[in-house]
Amino acid sequence: MTATKNEKLLAWVDEVVAMCKPDSVVWCDGTPEEYDRMTNSLVKGGTFIPLNDKTRPNSFYCRSDPADVARVEEFTFICSEKEEDAGPTNNWADPKEMKEKVAGLYDGCMQGRTMFVIPYSMGPIGSPIAKVGIELTDSAYVVVNMHIMARVGSKVLEVLGDSDDFVRGIHSVGAPLKDVKSPDVPWPCNASNKYITHYPETREIWSYGSGYGGNALLGKKCHALRIASVQARDEGWMAEHMLILKITSPENEVKYVAAAFPSACGKTNLAMLEPTISGWKVETIGDDIAWMKFDDDGRLRAINPEAGFFGVAPGTSMASNPNAMRTLHANSIFTNCAITPDGDIWWEEMDGDEPAQLFDWLRRTWTPGCGRKASHPNARFTTPARQCPVIAPEWEDPAGVPIDAFLFGGRRATTIPLVTEAENWSHGTFLGSVMSSEMTAAAAGTVGQLRRDPMAMLPFCGYHMGDYLAHWVKIGKKGEEGKLPKIYYVNWFRKNEDGKWLWPGFGENSRVLKWVFERCNGTAEAVETVFGRAPTKESLDLSGLNLSAEDLDVLLTVDKDALREEIDDMRAHFAKFGDKMPSELVAELDALEERLKS
Ligand code: GTP
Ligand code: SPV
Ligand code: MN
Repeated sequence: MTATKNEKLLAWVDEVVAMCKPDSVVWCDGTPEEYDRMTNSLVKGGTFIPLNDKTRPNSFYCRSDPADVARVEEFTFICSEKEEDAGPTNNWADPKEMKEKVAGLYDGCMQGRTMFVIPYSMGPIGSPIAKVGIELTDSAYVVVNMHIMARVGSKVLEVLGDSDDFVRGIHSVGAPLKDVKSPDVPWPCNASNKYITHYPETREIWSYGSGYGGNALLGKKCHALRIASVQARDEGWMAEHMLILKITSPENEVKYVAAAFPSACGKTNLAMLEPTISGWKVETIGDDIAWMKFDDDGRLRAINPEAGFFGVAPGTSMASNPNAMRTLHANSIFTNCAITPDGDIWWEEMDGDEPAQLFDWLRRTWTPGCGRKASHPNARFTTPARQCPVIAPEWEDPAGVPIDAFLFGGRRATTIPLVTEAENWSHGTFLGSVMSSEMTAAAAGTVGQLRRDPMAMLPFCGYHMGDYLAHWVKIGKKGEEGKLPKIYYVNWFRKNEDGKWLWPGFGENSRVLKWVFERCNGTAEAVETVFGRAPTKESLDLSGLNLSAEDLDVLLTVDKDALREEIDDMRAHFAKFGDKMPSELVAELDALEERLKS
C-alpha cells in the first residue's frame, strides 16, 4: 500500500527501486506493531537476540560485522558542486562523478531484500523547526533504530503532504542476495567498500556499504549535521554537535547550557548528569545535536532534533551515568557489547563484579582476566529519550530553550585547564576553533591521536570549515553581547604523570556547571589567564570533594609553556582555511601569542 500521493516522492522512490532492484518495497508506518514485527523478524533472521524479558524487557542484543563498527570518515564525502565549498577538512568529490560511482554500486544492490521507506522528522512532527527526510534502506536494523532515534512513519507523510521539501536519503548495506530465499548473514554489510556521500546543494545523502550508526541512521549525522549545517549557513541559524541541558539552582533559577565535545568525549554523560552538589538539578534536552535559531528577543533557542540516544556503552554505569542506565532499562537495542549467559548485556566498567563468564562482541567465550575487552570500545545502546528519568518537560517544545552558555571541550591529558571563560563571543569562537582532542573509537582510525576539531564539527560540517568559522563570527555580530550565550572551554580529561584522571568527572562536573551558572549571573569570581578567565579556588564549589591542593593547582592553571608550543600548530590549522579564515579569529590567535610572551 502506498501511503502518500506526493508525486515527487513517489517518482523518486520508483527511481531508486529501478536502480537498487529490491525484491519488495515497504512503507514504514512508525507504529509499535511495526516495531514488534520487525524486531521479531530480526530475531528470526539471527541479527537480534532477545534479552531476558525479566531483566531487560523488550530489548535486543546485536553484533555487527567486525568490519563495520564505527563511522568511516575516510569514506565520507561532501559532494558540493565546487570543491572549495567542501573545504580542506572534508573529502570532496564531484557530485556527478560520485553519483555515477555509487549508482554503479547501487545497481541491483538490494536484490533479494526489502527496501523500506522511512519517512522521518527531525524535531517534533509538524513543528515549524522540524525538517522532514525520507530514508530508503535495505536494513531492518536501520528501521528499528530509526524508530527510536527519530519520529518516523505515516504522520510524517501527512505533514509533508505534496511538498518537495525533504532530504532524500538512500542507504544500502551493499550486500545483495541472489533471491529472497538466499541465506543471509546476521549483519550484512560491505566489508571493503563503503561510501557515505552527501550532496548539500540538492539535499541528498547516498550511503553504501555500512549498517552502523552515523553511517546508516541517516537522520543523525548525515542529515541533522552535514546537510543541516549547510541550510543553517544559508538561512542564518546553527546546526551543532552539541548536547543541551537544563540546570536549576537551589533558588529555582533555570539556565540552559549547550556543549560541543567530539565523539565519545562526554556529551551524553554531561547531558544527564546527577549533580553531586546539593540542591542543584540537571535535566536533559538532548545529548548529541542542537539546532539553534534567534528568537524575536534576540536569544538563541535550541531544540534537540532527535528522539533517542545512540550512546557509547563502555564506561556507562550507575556510578558514572545512572540516568543513562535507568533510561536503557527496557525497549532498547544494544550493539557490540557483551551478553551474559542469562541474557543480559554487559560492558567494561558496568557496575558490580565482572561476570564469571560472558560471550563477547565477537561471539567468543570471555572470562575475567582473559586479557581482552568483552565489548567493542564503540559499542552503543539505542534508547528512547522519553525514557530518561531526567528528561526536561520542555524537551519537545517547538520553541526550543534559550541558551545561556556554550561549553567547548575535548580530551586533553595535558595543557588545557579544567575550565576557562571566554572574554566575549569572538574570543569564545576562537577557543572553539582551536579545540583539540585525542581521537576515540567513535570513528575508524587512530585512537588517541591529537587533532584539532573546531566546535567538535570536523567530521560533521557539510561545507568549508573556514566558512563555518565565519558563520560563527557572523552569528556573533547578529546577536547582542549580553543576550548571546557566554562561552567556556572545559577539559574533564587532564591526567597526572601516572596516567590517572586528575579530575573525577561525571557527576562532579556539576561543580563546573555551577561556576558557569554563577558566572552568567555575575556572582562567581574569576582570574584572568592567557586562555580566558579561570575560577579562583574559592569560587569553585569543592565541598565534599577529595581533591589535593596540588591537583587543583594543576587543574586550574594554564600551562603557558605547553600552550606556547601549540601556537605554530594553531597557525598551521588556520592556514589550511586560506582566505576564508576570518580575520577576527586570526587576531585572537595573535593576541594569545602576544600574551604568552610575558
Ligand atoms: P558520541 O555519542 O560519540 O557523540 O559521544 P559523547 O560525547 O556523548 O560521549 P559519552 O558521554 O558517551 O562519553 C564517552 C566516554 O567518555 C564514555 O566511556 C564515558 O564514560 C567517558 N566520560 C564521559 N564523561 C566523562 C568524564 O567526565 N570524565 C571521564 N574520565 N570520562 C568521561
Ligand atoms: C558520534 O560519533 O559522534 C556519534 C555516534 O554520536 S554516530 O551516530 O555513529 O555518529
Ligand atoms: Mn556524537
